[in-house]
Amino acid sequence: MVMEKVMTFDVERIREDFPALKSMMHGKPLVYLDSAASSQKPEQVIAAMDQVYRTVYANVHRGVYTNSEVSTELYDQARAKIAHFINASTPEQVIFVRNATEALNLLAYSYGRHFLKEGDEVVLTQLEHHANFVPWLVLAQERGVKLKYIPLASDGTLDLSTLPELLTPRVKLVTFAHVSNVLGTITDPRLIIEPAHAIGARVIVDGCQAAPHMPVDVQELDCDFYAFSGHKMLGPTGIGVLYGKPELLDAMPPFLTGGDMINSVSMEGATWADVPAKFEAGTPAFVQAIGLGAAVDYLTALRMDAVREHERELVRYGLERLSELSGLTLLGPTDPSIRGGALSFTVKGIHPHDLGTLLDREGIAVRTGHHCAQPLHTCLGLTATARASFYIYNEPREVDALAEGIEKAKRVLHK
Ligand SMILES: Cc1ncc(COP(=O)(O)O)c(C=O)c1O
Repeated sequence: MVMEKVMTFDVERIREDFPALKSMMHGKPLVYLDSAASSQKPEQVIAAMDQVYRTVYANVHRGVYTNSEVSTELYDQARAKIAHFINASTPEQVIFVRNATEALNLLAYSYGRHFLKEGDEVVLTQLEHHANFVPWLVLAQERGVKLKYIPLASDGTLDLSTLPELLTPRVKLVTFAHVSNVLGTITDPRLIIEPAHAIGARVIVDGCQAAPHMPVDVQELDCDFYAFSGHKMLGPTGIGVLYGKPELLDAMPPFLTGGDMINSVSMEGATWADVPAKFEAGTPAFVQAIGLGAAVDYLTALRMDAVREHERELVRYGLERLSELSGLTLLGPTDPSIRGGALSFTVKGIHPHDLGTLLDREGIAVRTGHHCAQPLHTCLGLTATARASFYIYNEPREVDALAEGIEKAKRVLHK
């Protein structure tokens, strides 16, 4: 039951960079197992933002004075770093948004309302986060677009054998999570993208739980759009990314309108700036974008294949350790090679909220509830689960602490 050491990865060293991990919760050292909700931040990211606020801070794209130019330059550099991180061919394919939710809404409002008409079909999956569910539900209700779902197989993977039946000529768009935030299931995007493209449909990948945890190459995937949030990958809140193919971004109308996104405005009308500015109305969250650039530098230095390997090993250990506990049911695939860093489970006779509250008293932070995936929970016949999720700074001893915390909760609640 010993976890194999991932040689390239020095977790003790990494933890030194994360001030919040040194904090206490209820008098116990914090065991932070909720990175799927949001990750902690390293000093390097905090310092990058602090540095801007203390020195060159000025609004971007607006001034000819030096600090505005330097801020603009740093913002542009952040875009280039993120493009490189996901292997987009140009920085202009990276649009800064607030988070993945905004990226997916942008697509539903701009692409969906412009290109989809009554009778068209959108294919989703049963395991989507609400962020990739609700915008399409609203579109369907408003425009008479039909939604169809790739079903869940009993092992927690998507049943892709249904694709030939689902991908009919009316399907114009397919959208799915690269990694499930509840089951941890990793879906190989190419298995959906290739058949979807073969029928002429466009494909959106919700990469919120993938981009922080594994190498992502949008050119190799050949996805049309890829969305993710900065705050789940060491970056600050308020910044996220929408990647899109240039010909699609060019053809799409703006989502929000106002300053910074126009070419010219007259009393009679307006024309739009080129991408990405067309989709970045108003003062952007440029300090946060610079912070996300620093986060990407941090992850790149660790190497994303090593990040993935570290988490795969933690998940393997977590699956092994938790499956030893009586009354505990693990959800999702049992094979760690097709699992991301989220481990959801139920414990017989204990409501997840009670379990989460008792774990909190032990200093252990886990997520409980439906994790913004109610349709998935309905498919599983559950209303709530507990979820532990791992990242670069987690260690096997924290998996042990979780297992011991669950055993203690069982003793408290079952006595
Ligand atoms: C798979 C997935 N998609 C989308 C989101 C939405 O992310 P955000 O709340 O940062 O917009 C999440 C957040 O947990 C997620 O896990």
